[in-house]
Parts: sequence; C-alpha cells; structure tokens
Amino acid sequence: MTQDELKALVGRAALHYVVPGEIVGVGTGSTVNRFIEALASVKDRIPGAVSSSSASTERLRSLGIHVFDATEVDELSVYIDGADEIDPRGFMVKGGGAALTREKIVAAQSKRFVCIADESKQVQVLGRFPLPVEVIPMAARRIARQFAGLGGSAQVRLKDGAPLVTDNGQHILDVTGLQITDPLGFETMVNQWPGVVTVGVFAHQKASVCLLGTANGVQTLTY
Ligand code: 5RP
Repeated sequence: MTQDELKALVGRAALHYVVPGEIVGVGTGSTVNRFIEALASVKDRIPGAVSSSSASTERLRSLGIHVFDATEVDELSVYIDGADEIDPRGFMVKGGGAALTREKIVAAQSKRFVCIADESKQVQVLGRFPLPVEVIPMAARRIARQFAGLGGSAQVRLKDGAPLVTDNGQHILDVTGLQITDPLGFETMVNQWPGVVTVGVFAHQKASVCLLGTANGVQTLTY
C-alpha cells in the first residue's frame, strides 16, 4: 500500500471513535484530510466539529460539516489528529503543518486523543523529525540560542522566502539535532521559556490510542 492509501485506511478507521450525537475534535494535516472525507459520510449523525486550523475548518465546511468555535464547547469526547512522530508511550511530535497551538488547545479540551498515522511516524525516541516550536517573533533569536545550548539547531520556518505566519500571527522554529528522551520534562521546561507559544512535543496531551496504518492493516495501539 502507498503512504496515501495507509492514510486513507486510518482516516476511515477513526470513524469508529466518533461518538454519534457528539461534536468531534478535528486536527490538521494530510492524514486528517482523509479522516474529514470519511467524516462527511456520517455528518448527519453528529452536530459538527471543533477544528484545529483554518485549513481544516475550510475543508470541513466545504463538505457540509458544521464547525463550532472551541469556546462554544466545554469538553469533547474525542480529538482525532495525525502526528509527525509517535513513540512507544504515545508521546508525539506535532506541528509539521504549523497548527500545533490550536491542536494542543483542542486536544486539551478532549477526553481522548486518537492519533492516526502511517507506520513511518513510529520512532523509539522523539527527535528525528525537526521539532516545531511556535514563538513570538521578537523572542525567536534568543529561543534559538536556548535550543543551541541543548545541542539543537533552530531555523525559522519560511514560506515563499519570508517567515511563515501561523493562524495565531506568530512564527515557527524547526529544531533539529535533539533526542527527546524525557518528553514530559522537556515539554514542561520549554513551556517556561519566555516567548514560546507552544512546543510541538505532545507529552502532557499525549495519544490515548494510535491507529497505525501498516502493510498488514490498521494496528490499534493503546497507551
Ligand atoms: C499539523 C500536524 C500534523 O498532524 C502532522 O504534521 C502530520 O501531518 P500529516 O498527516 O500530513 O503527515 O501536527 O500541525
């Protein structure tokens, strides 16, 4: 199976976790796009979705799925999103699509995080994928130096030759060269650095379940 077929497979498998009659939290990315397509087939059974990005909101609306603002909802039963990396404990790196801040907000609002990913996303230790960190632009240089102190190398993410601007009006640093052996401690530490909006380590908001697309079908991992 191609990577895209694996994404479609886990996107469909995630429908099993959508609770009829309840609003569903929806992440961002190419795997989630396949989930959104599947969700359209059951849209009459749910009131709608809370979305983690402008891109997903647009896609949900184009398929006739109502999008609620996160502030209209107290708690979601489930949040479904992809990952750039997932380790054996369900800790993840996210933010390859620059939506990490809203993703973490909606994940924190949800009882359960169902991660949908193809098997290329599985790692033993987080850090192979450049770690996305959303930052206030005036702090970017200093935060890059703080990562250098940990052995990392941070680059401002560019789009069309200029710093990419997130849905929240901020910038993204992509940090290479890290081995994140203590994801909970690492997330807590980086969260304290002035100017960090969100670090792309999802340890405090880790996955409860991962639906992993493999050559042998969907593997369900629970944490
Ligand atoms: C976006 C994300 C995505 O979930 C992550 O980048 C995975 O994306 P894809 O499904 O396209 O591989 O965190 O900010």
